[in-house]
Amino acid sequence: MHILHVVGARPNFMKAAPVFHALRMRHGVRQTIVHTGQHYDANLSDVFFSQLEMPVPDVNLAVGSGSHARQTAEVMTRFEPVVLETKPDVVLVYGDVNSTVAAALVCAKLGVRVGHVEAGLRSFDRSMPEEINRLVTDQLADALYTPSEDGDINLKREGVSPEKIFRVGNVMIDSLVKLLPFAQRQSRSGIPERYALVTLHRPANVDDSATLKSLLESLLEVNQDLSVVFPAHPRTRQRISDFGLNAEQLQLLDPLPYLDFLNLQSRATVVITDSGGIQEETTYLGVPCLTLRENTERPVTVSLGTNVLVGRDPDKLRSELRLVIAGKAKRGTVPPLWDGHAGERIATLLAGRASQ
Ligand code: UD1
Repeated sequence: MHILHVVGARPNFMKAAPVFHALRMRHGVRQTIVHTGQHYDANLSDVFFSQLEMPVPDVNLAVGSGSHARQTAEVMTRFEPVVLETKPDVVLVYGDVNSTVAAALVCAKLGVRVGHVEAGLRSFDRSMPEEINRLVTDQLADALYTPSEDGDINLKREGVSPEKIFRVGNVMIDSLVKLLPFAQRQSRSGIPERYALVTLHRPANVDDSATLKSLLESLLEVNQDLSVVFPAHPRTRQRISDFGLNAEQLQLLDPLPYLDFLNLQSRATVVITDSGGIQEETTYLGVPCLTLRENTERPVTVSLGTNVLVGRDPDKLRSELRLVIAGKAKRGTVPPLWDGHAGERIATLLAGRASQ
């Protein structure tokens, strides 16, 4: 059986790695990795491959940045001949980035089976590019691997046949479980004892100067009580400079490798973020997470985990932070099947199909 994995952007890599490693243990499985090149900076891509012990991709489509239409179209144009040439039995796509939907669309038109890992998540906010990617990918996929029950419910409501849905748990947590002991041995030199770890990169938060200015002002206020450590996505750094905003007192860092970031997350007093995956990682780690978004496609991190949605309301951020500092932050539990074995469950399902 030939399985082709498509990855493109930072959050894909830690999801694909456990599935790749689990399939490597199976007899009669051949694997190909295609990197679309959506993320191309070494510290958003290469370093993740080495830390996750993934081989260099077999193919790099080198699509680079561009508008959503251009980036999606470039992946489609460059990926189609790869599928025709390599003839995979199944193509696995991950998460919700532009590369995910582009690859799924190519395969659906060519009649090649698609498995979507991390299916069924919904924010119900179509102004988020990722929500469009999730909706379309899930309609096209032949096998939908969900991380939690809400995913199954969403898919069934959208008319996806239940036989296609497999609740396998959270593959991103597989990578965390495996690598946390190594991560905690990384150096934290220059990082204070207590700190708020911040990430911010959503277009809705960073592409408008007034919104970004107000968020940075809130973070400067946080910094009075708790040092802010802020590994910044290249897009965010660019916007801070384009808009001439003040972030000088914040400890702004370049994007960090996976192990270094995991290390900082696991020791943080609080994490403040607009990311998707970080809401899940903090829930697993039991670290308080304040999410700078009005909604989340990962509701179990709120209902079971440590996540609180603060939106862009500075008062809410202030009051939640006060609770954290007073040691009264929300406590949580780890959702079912977030146990480090989701990749193996996917491999078993795929290998079972091969032997039928
Ligand atoms: C993408 C995903 C987002 C994910 C994020 C994680 C989509 C729609 N968005 O957003 O869901 O949370 O990755 O990081 O797929 N850039 C660089 N170097 C790179 C890549 C990008 O400098 O290696 C800069 C470029 O200026 C580019 C901008 O970042 O225009 C945005 O990159 P893009 O791939 O369009 O989306 P992300 O914001 O990274």
